[in-house]
Amino acid sequence: MPASSASNTRLRTAVLALALPFVAGAAWFAGSARGHGDTAPQPVDTGTLPKLGSDDWLSRNPFHEGEHHDEALEVGARGYNANCARCHGLEAVSGGIAPDVRKLNADCGGDEDCLADMDQYFIDTARHGRSRDGRVYMPPFEGILSQEAMWAIRTYIDSRPPPG
Ligand code: HEC
Repeated sequence: MPASSASNTRLRTAVLALALPFVAGAAWFAGSARGHGDTAPQPVDTGTLPKLGSDDWLSRNPFHEGEHHDEALEVGARGYNANCARCHGLEAVSGGIAPDVRKLNADCGGDEDCLADMDQYFIDTARHGRSRDGRVYMPPFEGILSQEAMWAIRTYIDSRPPPG
């Protein structure tokens, strides 16, 4: 018995030695996926996307088609994962804390007016966040993310296939 318990201990030590760096690595990964911490919003480098300013807010995503679409998709993926994923889920797959944003367009069936309404709804929410009865459910991103970063994020979310 002593021999086998000694080897059990050795085995456990070996397993721990292997597992610990992995756990630390996983925590680091979760931390970076969450934008280096749970609360700090991350500015987004919007590359060569046209600057849209913060005086006039568009109501339709200017990147939903056209020459800037592909760059917006890349910028938006980074911006989303750094600022939105901690609540709305990595790659926009909700873990249940916040609504699944892949469903935003689900009832539009490609109808242009409906998609435009959803763009408006999206940008209002991203700018002002959501508060009720003095509780902040989602922080406002106006002043943190540029208009082009927000539309890039919308472009990324649109590219994620809806659940089911
Ligand atoms: C701290 C958590 C949190 C973060 C960070 C966050 N959200 Fe939200 N978001 C929520 C919650 C919670 C709701 C639902 C609010 C409510 O119940 O009114 C929501 C709602 C939304 C909605 C409306 C969804 C619907 O189906 O009605 C959109 C769009 C949205 N968020 C986009 C974003 C974007 C884009 C980002 C990143 C720039 C972001 N959110 C970051 C928590 C968050």
